[in-house]
Amino acid sequence: MRNNLDYIKSAVYIVGAGPGDPDLLTVKAQKLLAVADVVLFADSLVPEQILQVCRQDAEIIQTADKTLEEILALMIERVRQEHKSVVRLHSGDPSLYSAIGEQIHLLSEANIPFEVIPGISAFQAAAAKLKIELTVPGLVQTIILTRISGRTEVPANEELADLAAHQASLCLYLSARHVENAQAKLLEHYSAETPVAICFRLGWPDEKIRVVPLNQMADCTHEEKLIRTTLYVISPALLPTTGRSRLYHPEHNHLFRSSVSSQ
Ligand SMILES: C[S@@+](CC[C@H](N)C(=O)[O-])C[C@H]1O[C@@H](n2cnc3c(N)ncnc32)[C@H](O)[C@@H]1O
Repeated sequence: MRNNLDYIKSAVYIVGAGPGDPDLLTVKAQKLLAVADVVLFADSLVPEQILQVCRQDAEIIQTADKTLEEILALMIERVRQEHKSVVRLHSGDPSLYSAIGEQIHLLSEANIPFEVIPGISAFQAAAAKLKIELTVPGLVQTIILTRISGRTEVPANEELADLAAHQASLCLYLSARHVENAQAKLLEHYSAETPVAICFRLGWPDEKIRVVPLNQMADCTHEEKLIRTTLYVISPALLPTTGRSRLYHPEHNHLFRSSVSSQ
């Protein structure tokens, strides 16, 4: 066995690193990082602190200045020619805005074994920091994860104003540069007083969180000079609420507990 981890092998591991706080890595991510031969990461999105668990002799490769083709060529060579284990770190959860689709496609085409390890996404870190539930009974039961069009176009049938019509808990990624436009579209359906949590670099030492009414979302973003790594949570769940779930209600029975009235 090459490593102290039974399941690590010569393969690529696409690993979610969480939003920034190293304590929010999954146990599996931490175990893989501790034994991997090679670790690739973008320093603008993943804090270096996370690499403290890596082996002293691990090859650490920064990817911020590399194209997808260069990154893929590196990963394929390390696995195919050198029979090494490769961890490719992505911020948050790799299933969201991480451009892993094209990596998966090219790794499959090259016949390179790979696995995807989930991570905590920014929207989950935000809800935890804000100490809120994004689904409040009687108020909101749906979460929308989306972004506004930038260099990547959002399909017309996912237009932000249309999504706003649901008045769900809406988590807006990758949108700080287009915040006026986002605010205008959201105001088509949410009231001006709807609270918005503006969350900058959650889990990093310079983290900032501001909660403002929707009609101040753009002004506040400019005031704080936020253009990158900002998540907006627009949600009635940010209002003080008295709603409670049926699950723990004394009148509600389920498989493991009978209701007070049926006892
Ligand atoms: C390229 S996307 C990656 C998203 C990531 N896969 C996730 O699940 O959180 C980067 C965007 O995610 C959000 N984001 C990621 N990490 C964040 C953090 N620590 N604090 C606030 N927003 C974050 C921001 O909207 C940022 O512009």
